[in-house]
Amino acid sequence: MHTNNPIELNANENSLGMADSAKRAVTDSLGSGFRYPDNPSAALISKIATLHGVAENQISLGNGSTENIRAILQMLQHRALEEGRKFQMVIPVPTFDCAEMYADSIGAPVVKIPLTAENYDLDLQRLQKAANDFDGISLLYLCNPNNPTGTITSTAKLKDWVSNAPDNHYFLLDQAYLEYVTDPSFESGIEWVKQQLSDNLIVIHTFSKLYALAGMRVGYAISNPQAIEDVEAFMSMDNTNLSGAIAAIATLNDAEFLALSLRTTNQSRQMIESALDELGLRYLPSQANFIFHEIKGDLKTYIDRMRENGIKVGREFPPVKGFNRLTLGIPEEMEVFIEVLKSFRKKGWV
Ligand SMILES: Cc1ncc(COP(=O)(O)O)c(C=O)c1O
Repeated sequence: MHTNNPIELNANENSLGMADSAKRAVTDSLGSGFRYPDNPSAALISKIATLHGVAENQISLGNGSTENIRAILQMLQHRALEEGRKFQMVIPVPTFDCAEMYADSIGAPVVKIPLTAENYDLDLQRLQKAANDFDGISLLYLCNPNNPTGTITSTAKLKDWVSNAPDNHYFLLDQAYLEYVTDPSFESGIEWVKQQLSDNLIVIHTFSKLYALAGMRVGYAISNPQAIEDVEAFMSMDNTNLSGAIAAIATLNDAEFLALSLRTTNQSRQMIESALDELGLRYLPSQANFIFHEIKGDLKTYIDRMRENGIKVGREFPPVKGFNRLTLGIPEEMEVFIEVLKSFRKKGWV
């Protein structure tokens, strides 16, 4: 089954594929491929500014939001160096691993605070303590919703911390999965930027998930104008390619596609939750396009067996054991996955 053409449910991509409107817009723009992307990237910045109700100088476009992560780390490390202070990044584990990889590459120490044992929440108290106990600059890299758990952090507690933190705490709030959140208590960090809750808050977002443009590499950071100017100094020149900017604009204009994208993921989430309920496998309340669920057994073996059945899932997210991260693909993919999972149950594997 599917072994040459596996169903890829391991990278939180959007299996719907790019919107037709985005494909058309990219094809139509190829005649301009010899020009630098100044015009489309300016147009995209303007659209994002309107979308969120911020000024254009509050936005930094990234070659994927991961470029913003790298630049923010470098900017703060550089600032610490200039001020003769130490620098560290504090992260929950597990979380999206890219920030840690970039920190390692520039020799910045990373303090890792495990999620809480019971519900796999961010341990805000310990994260805060790690920053409080450090006399240099701390960057708190916090994904909300978190990856791989798909769950959100208490808005009240996070907001309280961001509002009252000392000025050597910097917050990088990664909201890659923002549009999937349904919990009414959730507040976007972009609103906090607009309310000027803190000068030390940068929020990032991406076109890789709901917008189905992971391969086009477009993301962005939103903060106050000064922070954006500081980050921009560490971004690559002309980093947003023409096709990426054009595709992002077209998708932003395609309300029908965006509604379909959200509906599809929600439908797939329901299918998976029912199947997991039926099998009595625990899962965390997903507010994203993936779900973290129990597998009752060794993850590596489970991943290999799924792969043998034509499905890519997982990977390992230490220190958590016995859970798999499953990307919510399209319902047809979920049907295949559920069939395979149920066959595993019959064999006593899950
Ligand atoms: C929390 C989080 N941030 C960022 C990304 C990647 O974003 P981009 O494709 O914009 O670089 C991912 C991808 O899985 C993610 O989970």
